[in-house]
Amino acid sequence: PASSMWGGRFAGGPAAIMQRINASIDFDQRLYAQDIRGSKAHCTMLVKQGIITAADGDAILAGLEQVLQEIEGGNFPFRTELEDIHMNVEARLAEIIGEAAGRLHTARSRNDQVATDFRLWVRDALDGMEAALKGLQQALLDRAFEHAGTVMPGFTHLQAAQPVTMGHHLMAYVEMIGRDRGRLADARVRLNESPLGSAALAGTSFPIDRHFTARQLGFDRPMNNSLDGVSDRDFALEFMSASAICAVHLSRLAEELVIWTSAQFRFVKLSDAFTTGSSIMPQKRNPDAAELIRAKTGRVIGDLNALLIVMKGLPLAYSKDMQDDKEPVFECADTMELAIAAMTGMIKDMVVNTDVLAAAAGAGFTTATDIADWCVRELKMPFRRAHHVAGSLVKLAEDKGCDLPDLSLDEMRTVEPGITEAARAVLSVESSVASRISHGGTAPDNVRAAVAAARAKWL
Ligand code: ARG
Repeated sequence: PASSMWGGRFAGGPAAIMQRINASIDFDQRLYAQDIRGSKAHCTMLVKQGIITAADGDAILAGLEQVLQEIEGGNFPFRTELEDIHMNVEARLAEIIGEAAGRLHTARSRNDQVATDFRLWVRDALDGMEAALKGLQQALLDRAFEHAGTVMPGFTHLQAAQPVTMGHHLMAYVEMIGRDRGRLADARVRLNESPLGSAALAGTSFPIDRHFTARQLGFDRPMNNSLDGVSDRDFALEFMSASAICAVHLSRLAEELVIWTSAQFRFVKLSDAFTTGSSIMPQKRNPDAAELIRAKTGRVIGDLNALLIVMKGLPLAYSKDMQDDKEPVFECADTMELAIAAMTGMIKDMVVNTDVLAAAAGAGFTTATDIADWCVRELKMPFRRAHHVAGSLVKLAEDKGCDLPDLSLDEMRTVEPGITEAARAVLSVESSVASRISHGGTAPDNVRAAVAAARAKWL
């Protein structure tokens, strides 16, 4: 049978395979609340503008409310032959209230309807992710404050470089997550305009009030151009690009947890709640959640790419390709929700092995820069020459098979006669980190101040 929605010019119905490729109800039913909210706003506006009668409007609003209850109660029969959430809701509305249901779609198209629904959904997803990231920052800040003075090796090239503090390391991620939140907030401002009333593509001849529906739906204003309103998905792309960048941050932290929990590092221990064992090797404690965050970052990046590629060849205005915008966005949002929650749990629970970190902090001649700086400060050497002196001291220690602080004063003086006992004091990892008081440096007092400032800014 021909469709009840557009059967006028059709003699027959679609092939089974046509129905399957065309239907989006399996996934776009997640838009039900936004769809009904949008329809209510549209209906209220139609009544206010005298486009439909108050009686029809009341029937439509009551019917939509019943549809909402049915869906939330889990007793709504979604039908594939009705293609998508919009037609499923409208068809059920017609069953409930009869012919008046047919007036709801006056001055509207599924094109502006879906653009509106999807913007509302992505707006909620943005807000949810923002709140989750705030929770992650809170966890990082708590652990950073606790470990403001815990020394550990800082790395470049994954080679021990200079001592830092665990607090400083964790605060680096607080900064990254802060920028992630900033990107979400920026995207929200641009997203928050209403496409409703763009109709199919050209606007409408009915005297609608787009400012009213925009306000009803919490948008700042209506979008300016009807073609743009129905045919851009940049808000979804921005959501996913901000997600992808955030996921990359999470993935790097996850990678560090994988390294840090290994038997060769033992910097931290994850809680039982965030570890798995092996079915064969009894000693194993695997950081699966961290590994999965690392892996799922690939999916999020893929989701962004999928929609970029869908969009890049589409002429204005709507093309059905755009129905394929939803699955990547849903997967991205679901994946990010899981990843952020798992990371927050791991950070909250992890045990920091301060003794292991302290021993590792000094290994690999990590205070060589400090002795070079001392020569510059106290002996007024040019830094390049001081670098050479410190390098020779490292070579001496390496040949002797000891660490820099183990060299005697006499041994050090064979390299540079100006070196005094005072120079030896800068070789400890504690004095090294304490001396890094430049803005943004790793000194424990800096870290405590940075934690306080970040709490004020982000929590
Ligand atoms: N299910 C469609 C989507 O998600 C709704 C819009 C359909 N519009 C159309 N002209 N076929 O994009």
